[in-house]
Amino acid sequence: MTLVSGRSAIPPTRVHEMDAVVVGAGGAGLYAALELKQELGLEARIGVISKLYPSRSHTGAAQGGVCAALGNTEEDHWEWHWFDTVKGGDYLVDQDAAEVMCHDAVETIINLEHLGLPFDRTPDGLINQRRFGGHTRNYGEGPVRRSCFAADRTGHAILQTLFQQCIRHDVTFFDEYQVLDLALPQGSGGPVTGVIALETATTELHAFRAKAVLFATGGYGKIFKVTSNAHTLTGDGMAIPYRRGLPLEDMEFFQFHPTGMYRLGFLLSEAMRGEGGFLVNDRGERFMERYAPTMKDLASRDVISRSIYLEIAEGRGIGGKDYVHLDVRHLGADVLNTKLPDMSGFIRTYFGLEPLTDLVPIQPTAHYAMGGVPTDIDGRVLADATGAIVPGFYAAGEVACVSVHGANRLGTNSLLDILVFGRRAGKKMAAELADLSQPVADAGAEVSVQTRISGLLAGTDGERPAVIRSELQEVMFLKCGVYRTEQLLAECRDEVAGLRERAQHLLVDDKGCRYNTDLGEALELGFLLDCAEATVESALARTETRGGHAREDFPERDDANWLKHTFATRDPASGAMSMAYKPVTITEFQPKPRTY
Ligand code: FUM
Repeated sequence: MTLVSGRSAIPPTRVHEMDAVVVGAGGAGLYAALELKQELGLEARIGVISKLYPSRSHTGAAQGGVCAALGNTEEDHWEWHWFDTVKGGDYLVDQDAAEVMCHDAVETIINLEHLGLPFDRTPDGLINQRRFGGHTRNYGEGPVRRSCFAADRTGHAILQTLFQQCIRHDVTFFDEYQVLDLALPQGSGGPVTGVIALETATTELHAFRAKAVLFATGGYGKIFKVTSNAHTLTGDGMAIPYRRGLPLEDMEFFQFHPTGMYRLGFLLSEAMRGEGGFLVNDRGERFMERYAPTMKDLASRDVISRSIYLEIAEGRGIGGKDYVHLDVRHLGADVLNTKLPDMSGFIRTYFGLEPLTDLVPIQPTAHYAMGGVPTDIDGRVLADATGAIVPGFYAAGEVACVSVHGANRLGTNSLLDILVFGRRAGKKMAAELADLSQPVADAGAEVSVQTRISGLLAGTDGERPAVIRSELQEVMFLKCGVYRTEQLLAECRDEVAGLRERAQHLLVDDKGCRYNTDLGEALELGFLLDCAEATVESALARTETRGGHAREDFPERDDANWLKHTFATRDPASGAMSMAYKPVTITEFQPKPRTY
């Protein structure tokens, strides 16, 4: 390994001229890149920049399915799906956006099938469908089979299909490059003219100049101690625009998936309940029958996660502890081994339990960010709550907030979101490319990234990033988790501020320039801290309970004051935070009390 201790600067920035760059190689990024190639032709210079090798992207971890009202196994209509999405989101969903998603779902699934995705089949050869939480038959009555799946490896199948198609269409991949900043030479109003990235293999800096940039970088679940998110889900794509003075929308809404493996956080798919599994407390009671008499264990996730916490708080956790049981014993070997093989394997491997005979310990796990970089329905990033567009800048997937999930996402709507809006963003970028500005360098941003990295590599004392990261995850899980109060959130805000201060003095042990993941994690810590700050500030501001934001001190939903989206912004010069608000778009379904 080359030692560079004491050097004053990292190697000079290398420049790449592209037509468009996509940051992130999950489902949203790959579908966008494919669409760009299909619209612009094989000669178009489309680059996909990915922190990981593409097939390691987090889309590959998605398990239970992707929904569309195909009606293959029982009656269904996209309008029912639309209603369920709006109700599931506790009426904070922008209904025009959700209409697009639920309507386009059907054609999108057929397109994916034609691209080669190996969906499970009915005996008649149609795409098979299974039940998922919050998806109902006929506006609220009982669950409907709407989730299309490939065993419990649906995300893996999507990722492989789209990656192969991108290779076939000659997309250029820059694998294991960590994007650290946007080129915004004229300030936060845009245009965006590229990105600056660190090559993990060499620690070289690269400037990508492009007329259009799409962020499809995923979420930031690693701010929490117990999470289903992979180690790399550190909110880079949210923190970068936030640092440059652009807003983040609805960051207070973070989804806790009810069935994380106890203490580990790994997901046990909702498909286990969709196939007939249920939750029991220490007394062996199916407690969801009390909280959601109609949908029971297939109510929306926010409702189930809160119910688990209430059971635990009232002493009915298993052995008085902070978990309950998932019972799938009755599903039988055929269902467990053919429809849920990965889930059954996880239980055997990580717990040493046999799902056919044992109860499985679960607890809610931080799973999904409903908030993120605000966009319109074509992935164009909004500069503020008035809806002004940042030219040349697009976002899709979990990093973005369209907003189709409102305050709480329905299971299987995330894979749908990345597909529908990744594809739409790719189409829009292709359509707008000719009218976008010629890319120019952002010399200030390049120097600032170089300085940051040189500083981290030169430092010889300070705290290790992992120490601060663990403390952040602990405090966020305890004080900004499923249930929140003013006091807990205020403490959390102060503690996050203290951690941000301490993170000014980090010790990066590895001074080398070959695969310096120590440096990468130090940079990621900064992104996590920014995302945590925006989350806590937004959670403090919203004095009501809605979806994934439960305030013990404000237990009711408050439509009179809070039927609006939060836009959190930090002034890059002063560091001062401010909140702005944007009304929810209501086109069809008037808000009403939510029951399941
Ligand atoms: O439970 C699951 O399989 C997760 C699905 C989702 O988050 O959409």
